[in-house]
Amino acid sequence: MNAFQRRRDWEGASSKQVEESLAAFAHTLEAWYNQASRDLPWRRTTDPYAILVSETMLQQTRVETVIPYYHRFMERFPTPLHLADAAMDDVLKMWEGLGYYRRARNLKAAMEVVRDRHGGRIPDHPEALRALPGIGPYTLGAVLSIAFNRPYPAVDGNVLRVMSRYRAVEEAIDLPQVKRRIEADVAETLKHGTPRLLTQALMELGALVCVPKNPRCLECPVSSTCAARARGLTAVLPKRLPKRSRRRQTVVALWITREGKFWAERRPEGGLLGGMWQLPAVELDDPSAPLEEYALARLAELRYGHAIQGDEVREPEPVAFERVCEASHAFTHLDWTVVVFAPVGYDHVGGPPVEIHPIHEGAWVDFEEISNFVWPKVYQEVLRQLIAGNDKQLSLFPLNGASRWR
Ligand code: ADE
Repeated sequence: MNAFQRRRDWEGASSKQVEESLAAFAHTLEAWYNQASRDLPWRRTTDPYAILVSETMLQQTRVETVIPYYHRFMERFPTPLHLADAAMDDVLKMWEGLGYYRRARNLKAAMEVVRDRHGGRIPDHPEALRALPGIGPYTLGAVLSIAFNRPYPAVDGNVLRVMSRYRAVEEAIDLPQVKRRIEADVAETLKHGTPRLLTQALMELGALVCVPKNPRCLECPVSSTCAARARGLTAVLPKRLPKRSRRRQTVVALWITREGKFWAERRPEGGLLGGMWQLPAVELDDPSAPLEEYALARLAELRYGHAIQGDEVREPEPVAFERVCEASHAFTHLDWTVVVFAPVGYDHVGGPPVEIHPIHEGAWVDFEEISNFVWPKVYQEVLRQLIAGNDKQLSLFPLNGASRWR
């Protein structure tokens, strides 16, 4: 029996019985939440802006990671107007290291709409909220329920797991129709209690008790009415569609130094990590030649200001590269491995500096000024490795540095 067969069973049940079981579920969850929940900073407020900031940060990011970012962000941009009026580079600097930077761009864009069309107050109308940049069904439900105490469901991965087990849903939870039915089920539940508490109670149950592996059913407040537990399915639920494999991409990057500085470039706006800084690089889906050949081609492009074609005459190139470090990063649909090469015989081993004729926006970055630029996480790791031994390494990426984001 799955959730939807169970729903059919409910058709056999009197509506009074259905109401009673939803009310009991809601009541038990709230009581448990009131005594077992963690004291998290965004739980000390019902300010819709604070809820929106925290829920945006918490998407795809762990609570422990978010806490210090949340404090710093709220201190720097305490109201929608502060964020709307801020420079985008300052906002991104405060977000640096959290990843998924589109969230930060959308949040600021949303606050500009709030400033221009809603008098600086986050709207409590579902349609007006939904129209803000970056607000999807989850964030909509989170703000409406947690801040405004309205019965709108906020179904994230934790809640999907809790409800798919509670109702013994045997279909894959990533199917849109399954998610929609679970959302409807949560919405019904919220109507039987205090939405503000219930939304967080479901999330908290998923985070603390109904965890992915080895759920702690003995500690669970609703285990006696959990369908998966009754049928011995907790270990196999939730089910998911087979994973699409992530595309692998190798990135060949260059470490070119000159008098205590290194060459860096800005990524094009609009694409992955748009506008952030990195070492000069080539991105390869299928490296068919040795990586050093790509490094050589990229170096030639930097030196001559254009890609070198065939047998075009040019100065002698260095014959060798030193492979100086490597770092990886998994994006949602992409696995990146950045391999960094330094040309042998140039500045870093005492030779002549490389003359650069850039075709992309770039700069010689002083080791001391690294934190003035915004770097993707994988390049922060690369720079940490490259500048290891420098006793400033731990303070390379302070969150409050001035920004060189242009
Ligand atoms: N994950 C998403 N929203 C959350 C919240 N409000 N508290 C804890 N974890 C969360």
